[in-house]
Amino acid sequence: MPKPKHHILVCTNTRPPGHPKPSCGSAGSQNILMALNMGLMERGVQPGEVLVTGTTCLGPCEQGPNVVVYPDGTWYSQVKETDVPLILDEHIKNGTPVEQLKPDAVWND
Ligand code: FES
Repeated sequence: MPKPKHHILVCTNTRPPGHPKPSCGSAGSQNILMALNMGLMERGVQPGEVLVTGTTCLGPCEQGPNVVVYPDGTWYSQVKETDVPLILDEHIKNGTPVEQLKPDAVWND
């Protein structure tokens, strides 16, 4: 299998009702993960060229849903399902991270 061009991590962590911290899973990240996979298929991306993986907590739960794109390590926060075409067309296809989806704090240059 060739090395993937991109690896997209989507936090799908969920917490029990009443937990004091929010979670990306309860904010709809499973739908984001599904939309990323569907969007890649719709764009004819070959299997293995871009990997999409659901993860446990990535850390900044209050800013979720959180998504990280590698190899560049770009963080996206408060991602909505409607943001997925932007990520796929601008970042994955054209190589330009989507500035308006980057969080203000930490991790992004
Ligand atoms: S639950 Fe998603 S970053 Fe913590």
